[in-house]
Parts: sequence; C-alpha cells; structure tokens
Amino acid sequence: MSHHVRVGLIGCGNIGASFAGLLAERRADVRGTTGIDLELTRIAVKNLGKPRPGIDPALLTDDTDSVVLADDIDVIVELIGGIDPVKDLLLEALKSGKPVVTANKELIAAHGEELSNAAAEAGVDLFFETAVVAGVPVLRSLRESLIGESISKITGIINGTSNFMLTRMADEGLDYDAVLQRAQELGLAEPDPTADVSGADVASKLAILASLAFKRLVRADDIEREGITEVKAEDFDIAARFGYTIKLLAVAEVFRDAETGQSEIGAQVFPALVGLTHPLAAVRDSFNAVSLSCDAAGELLFHGPGAGQLPSSSAVLGDLIAAADHLRRDTHRRVPFGQRAVLRDPDRLVHSFYLRLRIVDVPGTLSEVSGVLGAHGVSIRTITQQGRGDDASVVFITHPASEGSLRAAIAEFSALSSVHGDVSLMRIVE
Ligand SMILES: NC(=O)c1ccc[n+]([C@@H]2O[C@H](COP(=O)([O-])OP(=O)(O)OC[C@H]3O[C@@H](n4cnc5c(N)ncnc54)[C@H](OP(=O)(O)O)[C@@H]3O)[C@@H](O)[C@H]2O)c1
Repeated sequence: MSHHVRVGLIGCGNIGASFAGLLAERRADVRGTTGIDLELTRIAVKNLGKPRPGIDPALLTDDTDSVVLADDIDVIVELIGGIDPVKDLLLEALKSGKPVVTANKELIAAHGEELSNAAAEAGVDLFFETAVVAGVPVLRSLRESLIGESISKITGIINGTSNFMLTRMADEGLDYDAVLQRAQELGLAEPDPTADVSGADVASKLAILASLAFKRLVRADDIEREGITEVKAEDFDIAARFGYTIKLLAVAEVFRDAETGQSEIGAQVFPALVGLTHPLAAVRDSFNAVSLSCDAAGELLFHGPGAGQLPSSSAVLGDLIAAADHLRRDTHRRVPFGQRAVLRDPDRLVHSFYLRLRIVDVPGTLSEVSGVLGAHGVSIRTITQQGRGDDASVVFITHPASEGSLRAAIAEFSALSSVHGDVSLMRIVE
C-alpha cells in the first residue's frame, strides 16, 4: 500500500506550472519506485483570472492561508519567490507542522537560519535544493554525502544569464549592451536584468553554498560583489592573448589559523580572468558549475543547467519526495546553518591581478606606474603596451598581491597626469 501525501503548492508561474506538470507526469512512477503517492491538492496564486493550461481550475485559490494552514495538506511547496509575504507564510506552515520545499534563494539567503530553526522546532523538513543551481544536486551533496567533509573552498559559476552574456562576448566580440539585448530577446535575461548582472543573485546563492559547506552562517550582505557591467569587449581580446577567458565567479574560502584554531571566511563575487585550462573556463552559455575543494574527497565539480523550468522542477520534486519520505518515517533532517561566520576583510584577500590602464605614452610613464605598484608591494609578472601617444593602454599581470595593496595603488594612479580614464581591474584564477 502506498503512503498518500497531500501537496499544497503556493505559486504557479514559470516554475510552479512546470512543477505541477512534472508531478502529474511522474506521479505513478514515483509511487512505483518509492511507495509514496504525491497528490497535488490545492494551488494558491495571485490572480485567479489568468489562463493556466494544464492546471485543474478546481485546485486554484487566491487565499494562501487556506493552503498553508489547511488540515488536509501535508507538505507545502513554495514557488512564489521574494521575501514578503512568503517568509511569514512559510513560518506559519512550519509552525503548523508542515514540511516546506522552496526554490526561493533570496529568502533562504536572507532568512534561512530563522526558517531552519522554525523547521527544527516543529520537527519537520525545510528543503531548498532548487535555490542553488536548480537541478544540479549540490546542496543535497553538501547536506548528506559531504556532511563529514572539511571543505576549504568553493569556486562557482552560478548565474546562467551572466555566463551566457560573457560567453557571447568572448566568442563574438559583442559589447555588453549588444549582448544584454540578445539575452533579453532570447528570454535569458529579465527586462530588468539588475539581479543577474550586478552579482546580487550570485551573492545569494554563494551565501547558501558557503553556509552549508563551511557550517558557518554567511549572509548575502556579507559578500563583497562586483557584476559584469564594467567588463569591456577589449578585455576579452587581451585576456585571450594571455591564455584566459572572463567569467563571473563566486568564490568563498576558509582561512584557518593553526595557532588559535579560529577561522575566517573570505567570500566574493567578481568577474575574473580564468585560465583556459581551468575546468570552469569550459562552462559555457547558461550552464553553471560549482567546484568544491574537499580535504578528503579532493576537488569535486558539479555541472549542469542552473535554471529553467524542467531542471528547477526536477529539484523541487526530489526535495518533495525526500520530505514525504521523512513524513512517512516520522523523521526530519536539519539543515545546519551554523553560527555566524567571521568574514575576512577583503583587503586581506590575495590574488594575481589583471590591470588595464589608459596612459599618455611619454618616456617615464611605465616606470612611474610600475613604481606606484612596487611601492605598494605589488610585483609585476608581465607588462604589455598597446597603442601610442595619448591613446595608449598598458596591461599589467601581477604576481599574487593583497586586494588592499592593489586598491591603494589604484587610488594613487588618479594623482598621476600620465594615467587617464577608467582603470580595469580583475582578479586572475589560474
Ligand atoms: N526561473 C528559474 O529558472 C528559477 C530557478 C531556480 C529557482 N527559481 C525560483 O523559483 C521561484 C518561482 O519563480 P518563477 O520564475 O516561477 O516566478 P513567477 O513566474 O513570477 O511565478 C510566481 C507565482 O507566484 C504567484 N504569486 C505571486 N504573489 C503571490 C501571492 N501574494 N500569493 C499567492 N501567489 C502569488 C504568482 O501568481 P500569478 O500566476 O497569479 O501571477 C505566480 O503564479 C522563485 O523563488 C525563483 O527565484 C527560479
């Protein structure tokens, strides 16, 4: 006999409608393989008048409380998005003893700890695999397979829109505005693309990944971020000549003090020059990847579509089955966010850098600029100059140096009459 689980869905848009379709399609198979019969019992939406092909109108309501607090619903699947009113709805659901499955990265990055505590107090699950790289099961791996690991570093490409745009800039020499327009025409970028191109979406996902990987709570606001809006077409040409491409990276690393046993976490989002032989250089278009440096398991790479209706629905379904299985066995699994992380001052983080400056090409300019870098302890690996006269540019590739040193040197460049225009600065990941 199968275990019957009644599912309340709140939100039936892009992902919700796809998930409802996948659940209908897979219900019999899931029952056959797991012994769990998942019945979609009610669906809350905002606008009851919208056409919803494939959705039984008898299931629809615009009263979310009638789903969240219903006695005849066992599990809540949240696919509305955003923080208000979703946070309060999910707290209500958890407090009333219902497990919650959500895809909401913004909510989990900002309030995951509070929701996780509410779930633990109620003795139910809170699962959110879909919130980070959709159908690629990296969060479940962190929570289960890798729970005993010591993970020292996460490096990821975790925003498909920006990765698509950077791939097209690299391949076709398009500039930022042209490639954004292309992404919008293809439906890969929102009419307001800010969250994707500013690094904000990446910071939310990195906060969740870092919290689970390092078992220390990292919030999106803790993460220093730069987006891709300042990446120029000419940087791709120069990067390629040095053997790099440009990617928007999420990087988080643990720094352990062997003497005190204390640890700090460095967490940043930035466009970086990535060596062409690095595994992340091969992650193209809207694909995502997350690389984990594990003490025992070694370097692990998770790769796949990081968004989209079916990949997201697949992750929601996996979480739902896990939550339903736990209900059947009267158990739950806590997602540990851990104590608040101590964040490392970004000025102390060390990278090699790519630095492109516009200069007036007169005798002494290069030694003047190099002198400023040297005075701040930044040692130069290569220098390349392009152009002549007033419109010359010079590119430095540095040896590893602290961000603070680079920032201090750049602040001094503004006082030099030989340097003009914007400075392009990117980290290098070999
Ligand atoms: N798109 C992706 O590839 C992707 C990937 C991973 C995670 N996610 C996450 O999945 C979630 C859903 O995204 P989406 O793209 O499906 O969003 P969406 O298309 O905007 O759908 C939102 C749904 O929520 C409903 N809704 C909005 N406010 C509501 C309220 N106050 N009460 C009840 N229902 C309400 C809307 O109702 P109406 O239909 O009546 O407007 C709609 O059905 C988000 O958290 C997103 O970050 C998305």
